[in-house]
Amino acid sequence: MPISFKKITIIKPDDWHVHLREKNILKTVINYTTSFYQRAIIMPNLCNPIVNCKQSIYYRNKILKAQNNNKKFQPLMTCYLTEFTSPKELEVGFSKNFFTAGKLYPSYSTTNSEKGIKNIKNIYSLLEIMEKIGMPLLIHGEETESTIDIFDRETKFIDNTLDPLRNTFPYLKIVLEHITTKESVDYVVDSNSPYLAATITPHHLMLNRNDMLVNGIKPYFYCLPILKRKIHQIALRNAIASGNKSFFLGSDTAPHYDKNKINTTGCAGIFNAPSSLLAYITVFEEMNALKYFQAFCSENGPKFYNMPLNKEKITLVRKPSQVIKRIKIGKNIITPFLAGQILNWSINI
Ligand code: DOR
Ligand code: ZN
Repeated sequence: MPISFKKITIIKPDDWHVHLREKNILKTVINYTTSFYQRAIIMPNLCNPIVNCKQSIYYRNKILKAQNNNKKFQPLMTCYLTEFTSPKELEVGFSKNFFTAGKLYPSYSTTNSEKGIKNIKNIYSLLEIMEKIGMPLLIHGEETESTIDIFDRETKFIDNTLDPLRNTFPYLKIVLEHITTKESVDYVVDSNSPYLAATITPHHLMLNRNDMLVNGIKPYFYCLPILKRKIHQIALRNAIASGNKSFFLGSDTAPHYDKNKINTTGCAGIFNAPSSLLAYITVFEEMNALKYFQAFCSENGPKFYNMPLNKEKITLVRKPSQVIKRIKIGKNIITPFLAGQILNWSINI
C-alpha cells in the first residue's frame, strides 16, 4: 500500500453493514455508499423484512436501479431470520447467491426487529444448516430482557447467548456486528477463531456516551447498541489499531428522517454513509495506525467472507473537506453523521 504523508491509495473498500431502506430514501442514500464502497452487505430489516429469496431478488434489483455512479457495485443480500424461516429457503438462497448471510435480530432489539428471534433455541435447526453450508450468521448481539440494563445488553448477550451458541456450532461463521464494548473486543481477540469476526462503526470509534448525553442530549448520536463509556471506546480504537484481522469495516449507516429522530420516541440509527470512510481514516491517523487502514477497510472482510479482494483502488488525500450538512428528500431532511464538520481528509473519486 503506497503511503505518503499527503495521500493514501488503498484497495477499494467494502461496507459489511448497510441500511438502505426503500423508495425515496433508498434512491437518495444509495449513491453515497456506492461512490466509496464496491460491495455492501445489505440489512434486511425493512418495514416488511426480507425473509425469502423472492423478496431478496426484488430488493436487490431496486437497489441496483437506484444507484447511478458505480456500475460494478455489488449489493450482498441478507435473509432476516425468523422462527418460521424454512431451512430450504436459506439453502437455496445461499447456493444461488440470493443471500450472502443470515441476520439474527433478537426480537425487539432494534428498528423493525419485532419479527426477529424470541428464543435462539427455536432456530438451532437453521443454524445447523448454516454451519453445514458455510453461510455466515450476522448478529445484532444484545439481550432484550427488560430487566437487563441497556448498557449491559451486549455483554450479557455474549455470556447468555453467543458463547453457548458457539459451543454448539463451533464451525458456524459468525460476525458479531457493530461491537461496542471492551468485553466484545476481548471475546473476539481471545477466541482467535477463523469462525468469529466483528465489525466496528465509525461512530462507536469516535464517540462515547458522554458525547451523547453531556451538555444537552444529542439525538443524532443515538444508535443501537447504544454508545458506551469511554473505556469501551478506547478498547474499540485499540482493536483497530492492533491490526487484528478479525475486525473489519461495517458502518451501520442507518438513515432516519430528522422528524423521526427528533421525537418523543426518537429512532435509533446514524446515517454516516457520506462521512464514514473519512471518519475511519481520521481515527486510524489519530491512532497512528494508518498501516492497517487498508486491511480493515478492504482485506479482512473479504477474507472472512471468502470473497476476492476488489481490483479497483481509491485514493484518500490529506486535504480538508466538509461533510454535507443535510440531505433533502421532498419535505424531509436526513442529517448525516458529522454534518457540516471539517475533516482532515478528502476522497479523490
Ligand atoms: O442504530 C441502529 N439503527 N441500530 C440497528 O441495529 C438498526 C439500525 C436501523 O435500522 O435503524
Ligand atoms: Zn444495523
